[in-house]
Amino acid sequence: MKIYKKQGDTIQILCSPEETAEKGDYLHIEDQKMKKGLIVQVIDIQFANLPGILEDMLRDVMTEDSIKGYDCDPFNISSQIETLKDTRLLVCKIRGSMENGKAKSEATWLPSRTNSRIVLYPIEKLVSTKNGKRPMTLGRTRSSSLTVDVRMLDGKLNVITGKKGVGKSHLSKLIILTLIKNGAPCLVFDVNGEYVNIGRSKNNEPNPEADKISVMTPGQNLRFGLKSVGLKTLLNTMIYALELPRTSSKVFSRIWRELEKTGKLTLTEFNSAIRRFGCHESVREAIYSRFNTLLDLELFSDDPSEIFDFENSVQEMNRGCAYIINMKDQHSLSRRLVVELFISKLTEQLSEKMLKAVFLFAEEAHFYLRETYWEDIVTRMRHLGVFTTFITNQPDTVQESVYRQADNIFMFNFTNDHDLEAVSKVAKIDTESLKSIVKDLPKRNCLIVGDIVQDFPVVVNVKPLNVQTMGQTRHFFQD
Ligand SMILES: Nc1ncnc2c1ncn2[C@@H]1O[C@H](COP(=O)(O)OP(=O)(O)OP(=O)(O)O)[C@@H](O)[C@H]1O
Ligand SMILES: [Mg+2]
Repeated sequence: MKIYKKQGDTIQILCSPEETAEKGDYLHIEDQKMKKGLIVQVIDIQFANLPGILEDMLRDVMTEDSIKGYDCDPFNISSQIETLKDTRLLVCKIRGSMENGKAKSEATWLPSRTNSRIVLYPIEKLVSTKNGKRPMTLGRTRSSSLTVDVRMLDGKLNVITGKKGVGKSHLSKLIILTLIKNGAPCLVFDVNGEYVNIGRSKNNEPNPEADKISVMTPGQNLRFGLKSVGLKTLLNTMIYALELPRTSSKVFSRIWRELEKTGKLTLTEFNSAIRRFGCHESVREAIYSRFNTLLDLELFSDDPSEIFDFENSVQEMNRGCAYIINMKDQHSLSRRLVVELFISKLTEQLSEKMLKAVFLFAEEAHFYLRETYWEDIVTRMRHLGVFTTFITNQPDTVQESVYRQADNIFMFNFTNDHDLEAVSKVAKIDTESLKSIVKDLPKRNCLIVGDIVQDFPVVVNVKPLNVQTMGQTRHFFQD
């Protein structure tokens, strides 16, 4: 391999057909005189367009069938020309430099064209965390297995994206299981009910993490009580999820306080209190209709044995447990209510320092997350201790600020230009590299960018999991 050209942070390298390099590979350009090196990543592989090649190939095409006979080539030139025709041009991006055996992220010099030796550089040497305290093996790169430090997800905002069926939920399950194993509290908003069995292996045996996983289905084993939810959280939910007008919310608080004073804070009492409370008829109607929606969705109960205990759940989470909220087949309003209740309660518990932190996994969040939460999650809630991972196959439903602020991005294949445009807002990698690599990623392979790979973009083939992943789409034809 030889350096051909450098323009900005792009280096073009000529590479013979025998030398193998793939998109995403790292190369070490070692200047043997200076004893320094550049670390570059291959982002595209093209044919080298040499002068005269087109003419030669056209001649080949024209004479292929028409001229019969024996090729006389005493100096064996044709094999060289064949090789030249197949010579590759590797388009690479500079990712860092190498001095005294240490990789650095900055590179401000240019290696020699003549004295440089170019070799494939194993990624694990750049992203080595094998001796880290909390390793997470994500899968294999071209050269070896990739183990990262799970602490690099702590305090971070992450995005897993890619087109349908490429393995996003699979990767997120792998991350969740590793977090649980390391005693980190997790909360999963599961829209398709595909995380409900992550505590079970393929042959239906419980795995070591099983006793730390609770699956909650709203309306079935997840119901809320007025008292345990509290006025602040319920009011927020009524305002944001059910659009209760502000004026009515004041009356709602007064009714609540009155019932609380007399110790009658139950659904039935609340219902009749709304009806007899002295207020304007339109206000009463506003509260009454919302309260009845709550009752109809069967998310609330007066029976203490059914009620979700937030106090207890905090203790469980601090112990490193995961809650999977199974929202499959739920009414969209019910999803929004449950999410609103949880997020509001979590922020309350976090700001009161009852809960240390929580890793939140949100699949297709645009179905249930209200507009104003996006900004909040990126800024305020993150400082409080909500570390979110968004998982989506519709990248334009995730707000741009999330891509710009994301610390780790796991990107699977996208072929559609519109989708690629949406994800190219990611700040941690240049648009050209991202689009070029992501377009050609096979299924189950993802490009990882960010803190977890020490800002060296890495392509990894995600490892299989021995859990009931349940991600499959149901089919009619079985043959
Ligand atoms: N690395 C992997 N090893 C083995 N099986 C995998 C891997 N990745 C994904 N799968 C399997 O492929 C199928 C699709 O994966 P998954 O559900 O994770 O895709 P997805 O990207 O989340 O799709 P969707 O966009 O529809 O949610 C699942 O059955 C899953 O178990
Ligand atoms: Mg999925």
